[in-house]
Parts: sequence; C-alpha cells; structure tokens
Amino acid sequence: MGFAKNFLWGGATAANQYEGGYNEGGRGLSTMDAITGGGYKKPRLMTYKNADGTIGSSPIDSSLTGTLPENTTGYILPDTYYPSHNATDFYHHYKEDIALFAEMGFRCFRMSVSWSRICPKGMYEVNEEGLKFYEDVFDELNKYGIEPVVTINHFDMPMYLADHYNGWGSREVIDFFLFYAKTIFERYKGKVRYWMTFNEINVLSGWPQTGIHENDPQHLYQAHHHIFVASAKTVILGHEIDPSNMIGMMVSYTPGYPMTCKPEDVYEAICFNRQKEFYMDVQVRGYYPNYKLKEFEREGIQIEMEEGDLDLLKKGTVDYIGFSYYMSTVCSTDPNVERTEGNQFLACKNPYLETSDWGWTVDPEGLRIVLCQMYERYHLPLFVVENGLGAADTIEADGSIQDDYRIGYLRNHIAAMKKAVEIDGVDLLGYTPWGCIDIVSAGTGEMKKRYGFIFVERYDDGTGDYSRRKKKSFDWYRHVIETNGEEL
Ligand code: BG6
Repeated sequence: MGFAKNFLWGGATAANQYEGGYNEGGRGLSTMDAITGGGYKKPRLMTYKNADGTIGSSPIDSSLTGTLPENTTGYILPDTYYPSHNATDFYHHYKEDIALFAEMGFRCFRMSVSWSRICPKGMYEVNEEGLKFYEDVFDELNKYGIEPVVTINHFDMPMYLADHYNGWGSREVIDFFLFYAKTIFERYKGKVRYWMTFNEINVLSGWPQTGIHENDPQHLYQAHHHIFVASAKTVILGHEIDPSNMIGMMVSYTPGYPMTCKPEDVYEAICFNRQKEFYMDVQVRGYYPNYKLKEFEREGIQIEMEEGDLDLLKKGTVDYIGFSYYMSTVCSTDPNVERTEGNQFLACKNPYLETSDWGWTVDPEGLRIVLCQMYERYHLPLFVVENGLGAADTIEADGSIQDDYRIGYLRNHIAAMKKAVEIDGVDLLGYTPWGCIDIVSAGTGEMKKRYGFIFVERYDDGTGDYSRRKKKSFDWYRHVIETNGEEL
C-alpha cells in the first residue's frame, strides 16, 4: 500500500528562474533575460532595439504573452532590474543547495538546462564551460544519490535564434535544438536518465517562450508543430543514445469542471480540457486529433508540414507524462461568471473553493481527479513535476519562518495523490513540488511570491545577499520523505 518504495520525492526548479549567472561562464543571452521585474498585477516589460537603433519596450502579461514588434531584437537596458540575471543564484550556490536537498532526503531534483549556456547562440557552437557546469551539478546530485530530472527547455530561447530566426517560427530551429539535445544526451549519458523535452508545452506563447514575434493562432500553431517535431526527434535520439533514458513530455494541467450540470457547461468543459489533451494526444498517442484538425479547418489555420512529420510524431512518443498541477477552474457558457487569477490564464471562480493570495484556486482533490483522468486516458506512468503554493513569507523576530499555510497546502495535495495511487491504481513515478527553494515567479517576475522549503534572501528591489535559511516546511517535508508519504 502507499507510494512505491522507489517513489521519486524531490523538488523542482527552472534555469531562468533559479540559476542566474546570466553573463558568466560563456553563456549567451536568452529571451527571458530581457524581461523586467514586475509584481502582482504590475506591468512587466520586454525590452528591445528597433532596426534603426532606437530602444523600445512592450508589456507582457502573467501568461508571458505579449507581442514584440517585427524587426526588433531583444535588448538589455542599463540600470534596469531583470530578475533572471541573478535569480536566486544556483550558479554560485549549487553545492550548498544540493546539500540542503540531500538533508531533506530528496531522491530526485528537477531542474532545466539553459540552452544558451550550452550553445550560446542556440546553434552549432558548444560552450565547454557551460557543459562542465551542469556536469558538476549532476555529479554533486549523484554524490548524494539524488536522481536529476532534466527539462531540456523551460520557457527560454537563445536570444540569437529569436532575433535572427523568429525562434520556433522557423523550421531550421528544429535542427539547432536537436544538436543541443544530442550534445547534452551524449555528455550526460550515465549521469541523467530522466528527461522532459519542453516545459508546459500547452502554454507556450509568443516571445520569450517561443522566440516568435507574432501572437496569432496561425503563427503559434505553426511554431508548436515545429516544437512537436523537435520533441519527437529528441525522444527518438535520446533512446538511440541511451536506451535506458526515460523521456517525458510536460503539460500544465488545470482541469476545468462544468460550472453546472447544464449540458452546455459540460461541453464547455470538454473544450477547455482539450486545450491540454491536444498536446498529450500528439505526444503520447502520436497524432493530431480530429477535434483539433476540425478547429484548424474552421479557423482557416494551415500547418505547413514536411513529408515524414506525421510519421515522426508516431515514432517519437514519450515514456511518461510530467505535469504541473496548481489549481482547477470551472467552465460555463455564462460570460458573467466571476473571474479569478490563474496559472497562465484568467480562470472562472469556483464558489466551493478558496483561492491563494495570488488568486489561484486551491483544490487538492482536483489533483486526484486529474491523475485518474490522465491515467485512464493514456495508460502511461505519470509524474507530478510541479505543485505548490505561492505565498509571501515573513521572517519572525527569532529568524524562523512559520509557513504552516504551505505545509497545509502540500499535505492535502500529497494525501489526494496517495488516494490516487492506493485506491485508483494510478502509476505515479514521483512528486517534485515547485520552487523547492525560493526562485523568481514566472508569471509575475516577483521574489515575493515564494514556494520554497528554503528561503533565499533576495527581494524585489534587487537587494539581498542570497543567503539561505530553512523554513518550518523544511523539516516537515524531510519527515514526509523519510516515512515515504505515510506521515503527513
Ligand atoms: C508553471 C511554470 O506554470 O508555474 C513555472 O512551469 C512557474 O515556471 C510555475 O514558476 C508557478 O507560476 P508562478 O507564476 O507562480 O511562478
């Protein structure tokens, strides 16, 4: 009963929100380096240079969506705070951080590799110092018996490719990505076995995530087709290089419940959930589903494909589904339903559930529902690679951080996950709560919105010495892992 003995307990991060060292060790710039800080409901900007050399900026929202004008290139303004530049400085603190993860008993650690640290322009030139950095990190993790779980691409795009190729808008980028993937698969063979190709593939929108300057469905779906092909080829290649590699996809899963039992609301929920299922259908089943092809037909969207693409999608299906789960939402045909904030979109408010301070609906039982639905639909091992509560923490006079709210959130979600395993028979590989150490928020660019078991002295005004301290949840999670999820 309970979680498997080798259940992968751990934590999750991403390079653009955690690593820092943006201009060190031969790293090239990435699109995320040109997004300024912001705050909850405060504007963030993408900064760029026009062809005539003048400087401009355009707003970006909490789904990292915004449009960069054509013929512009990403540009970093002097004396401006860009949170990704130092983030919470894993680059210089990795040994200390990994020792803390080991103290909590982590069996795995999810992180992403920054493409422009390996290939500074995203192309065929390799930066040995970057390769060595991650090698040292993986060796350090393996020293403690912590299995690295690596996202090959988490929301960042080498700036050069965005500037010169319109990012995933160009088919050529598939080959550049494959070169990058081959380089890391070969170098880290035997050190890394768990991989995911693209983080939250279903929410990838304009520049910075895809490098494209446009944001309309035609351009986005074409870019997504290139990403699908790149992912499928990566899976095939990764298996060729090391057949023991487990290569997964990663989807952001916010389930939509019908607001009422009115059939129209039920159908609305089906359509909403298809926005995620589409990506799983392609990457797990290996084909474009009919409902999407019909949508393309209706909307006049035409995807340019090369001969052999559909075959590649069939052959390059994934070994497991990694997904993020933070919240649920409701679906209704009534446009007047109350709205609340959400993970990468404005959600409808569920009258039965509370919301976090950032407006995200808290729904532990929803995690069980999602696990059941996904497992029954795809029959593939699942991996909860993100889950957690973004909250503002306070340091008490005695230096402690009493984050009982975080413990409560995680406890309820782990309990729901346990039911899915024990009662519903879901095949679950592991659980990596998001931002196991404080990192920059993707949606708001803030430090104030924290997820970690470990507090990092870094603040939104750019101050802080990056020192680390354990929160109350640190010991709580250590005990959860120690008892394999039996004592919550
Ligand atoms: C997911 C992303 O959407 O949610 C992470 O994969 C992100 O990169 C996480 O940080 C939480 O979102 P936020 O906006 O609270 O950082």
